[in-house]
Parts: sequence; C-alpha cells; structure tokens
Amino acid sequence: MLDSFEREQASRQVFETGRVEYIVAHAMVRNALANELGVDPHDFRFTRGKYGKPIALLGRTTVAISFNLSHTKGMVVVGIAAKNTDLGVDVENRLRKIDLSIANHYFAPPELSWIMAQATSNQTSAFMSLWTLKEAFIKATGKGLSQELNQFWFTNPFITPIRINFGADMQESNSLWSFEQRMLLDKYYISIGWRGLGQVNWIEIPD
Ligand SMILES: CC(C)(COP(=O)(O)OP(=O)(O)OC[C@H]1O[C@@H](n2cnc3c(N)ncnc32)[C@H](O)[C@@H]1OP(=O)(O)O)[C@@H](O)C(=O)NCCC(=O)NCCS
Repeated sequence: MLDSFEREQASRQVFETGRVEYIVAHAMVRNALANELGVDPHDFRFTRGKYGKPIALLGRTTVAISFNLSHTKGMVVVGIAAKNTDLGVDVENRLRKIDLSIANHYFAPPELSWIMAQATSNQTSAFMSLWTLKEAFIKATGKGLSQELNQFWFTNPFITPIRINFGADMQESNSLWSFEQRMLLDKYYISIGWRGLGQVNWIEIPD
C-alpha cells in the first residue's frame, strides 16, 4: 500500500516497533482517505507544507480531506476532517520517563503553575496531557516547532471544553479553536485540535 518513499522511511527505523508503527500509521492514513474518497489506498502521493506538514494528492490535486497523524511506541493516531480544516493530533505515553525540569523550556507560566499544582506523582502525567495539546495545536497550524511554545497556553485540560489562550503576538482567536483529549489503555494521552466547531467521532481499532 505504501509508496517507495514511505517504504524507505520505514526501513530506516532502527527498531522493529518503530518500523511497524510507521507502516501502520501511513497505511491507516491511506485507508482512511481512500474510504472517504472511494479510491484505492495506493493512489495517493504525499507532499509537505513549508514546515513539513504532510499533504495528500491524487494526481496533481490536493485531496478534499484534511488529515494528521501521530505515533508513539504502542499507539498510532490518525485524524481526518473536512478539506481545509487545520487539524492536528498527538499521542504520548504519560508514563514515559522525562526530566520535569525541561517543562520550563516548553510551557507558558500558567501551564507550569498548573503542572506544579498537581501531586508530585501526577506531574509527569500532567506534563504529557498539556504537551499533547500543545503539539496538536502546532501540528494543526502546520508550523511545528517553528512556533514559539510560550505564545499560547492551556489553563486546565481536565475542564471541558478545553480552551486555548493566545499571547498578544499571535494572530489567532481562541473562540475559533476546538480541542478534545482522551486517555487510552490508562497510559496514552491523545489530543486533537482543529480550527472550527464540531466534535470528534472517536474510533478505536484494537491491534
Ligand atoms: C512534527 C512535530 C511537531 C511532532 O513530532 P513528534 O511528536 O515527534 O511525532 P508525532 O508522531 O506526533 O508526529 C509525527 C508526524 O507528524 C506529521 N508532521 C510532520 N511535520 C509536521 C508539521 N509541521 N505539522 C503537522 N504535522 C507534521 C508527519 O506525518 C509525522 O509523521 P511521519 O514522519 O511518519 O509522516 C515535530 O516537529 C517535533 O519534533 N516535535 C517535538 C517532539 C519533542 O520535542 N518532544 C519532547 C517533549 S515530550
């Protein structure tokens, strides 16, 4: 189902688990797009935006579906939405070992305060909850890490609807953005963000 570029990327993964996750993620994207558009999953080719966000093409035409993907050890997430929806997804293992001192580098002051207000044993999990939301946003805009991470922040991701806040330098309106977050298998935080209204139809596919 994958093209030669994808097969080469998959073969470059050092560990077999990474190779499997890469293949599954890219096959899921192709399948999801093919199901929506009624074409063969192999028909798509992919190009990338200015900061690396993948864009699907059929022939020379950008497909009428937006998508984004994320993979981490043991979990793959694919999001699809109507054409021209800025959409980003991210998944992280909340039990992953991290040095919490790096939080200063990634989070805005209100986010740091919220993480530090959690019980010590929950702080890594809180970090990951916020981190997946921040990644969902920078992947939705497509800017990735070229976006300064302290220019936007989430106050409390456990209160729904989850709201994003923008610093004065951001040309964004928070009322135009929606976010949802779920935890799967008691360890994966999955966040999805999109510019627009509506809600997520979550579909879980067991391995
Ligand atoms: C794209 C980025 C924002 C997210 O990467 P990531 O969290 O490592 O990886 P994810 O699995 O969530 O996403 C990777 C996928 O996003 C997509 N992607 C790549 N660049 C993108 C961009 N600019 N915008 C949206 N999506 C992008 C690709 O499909 C990529 O998968 P592929 O290479 O298999 O095609 C990347 O710039 C990055 O490096 N993030 C920082 C990770 C980090 O520092 N983590 C430490 C804190 S816990």
